[in-house]
Amino acid sequence: MNGTDKSSLDDFVQRYSGIYEHSPWVAREAAAEAAECRSVECIAEIMADCVDNASSERQLALIRAHPDLAGKAQIAGELTADSSEEQARAGLDRCSAEEYKRFQDLNDRYLQKFGFPFVMAVRDSSRAEILAAFEMRLGNDPRLEFETALTEIHKIARLRLRAMRAKELRQ
Ligand code: GUN
Repeated sequence: MNGTDKSSLDDFVQRYSGIYEHSPWVAREAAAEAAECRSVECIAEIMADCVDNASSERQLALIRAHPDLAGKAQIAGELTADSSEEQARAGLDRCSAEEYKRFQDLNDRYLQKFGFPFVMAVRDSSRAEILAAFEMRLGNDPRLEFETALTEIHKIARLRLRAMRAKELRQ
């Protein structure tokens, strides 16, 4: 048996299907190569390559699979466990009514301008830092913002992989 038999590929897909938000295809495409990895960084790189080599339609769908920050899904408790934890670590589950309003206004303006939601790896950022980045990125041109969203999505994936590994090491 080697590391790429069917059951280890299935294990890989099951384990890493949530690393890219609502996009298990990334784990499926990365599985054959990444199942051989010994480190989180190796897995992160192979998964990122799959996204970077995907069609722009698929990349757009991946960006659109992300929920708004401090948006309706968060308020309704409908986020994935990872997204919920990331938003909570940034304090986005404790916004004042005024801050929620500000996020809603920014989320609406951003979607209107770019056609996809604002994505930022917020895990280690404060509300003030996120709001400042939001305002700044609203001024970007669409092509740059598309690339920035994908870069942030790769950061989110890397942080999710590291958090997963850290949790396993504690068990
Ligand atoms: N940054 C970290 N997680 C998320 C998420 O779920 N949505 C968005 N928009 N940004 C994030």
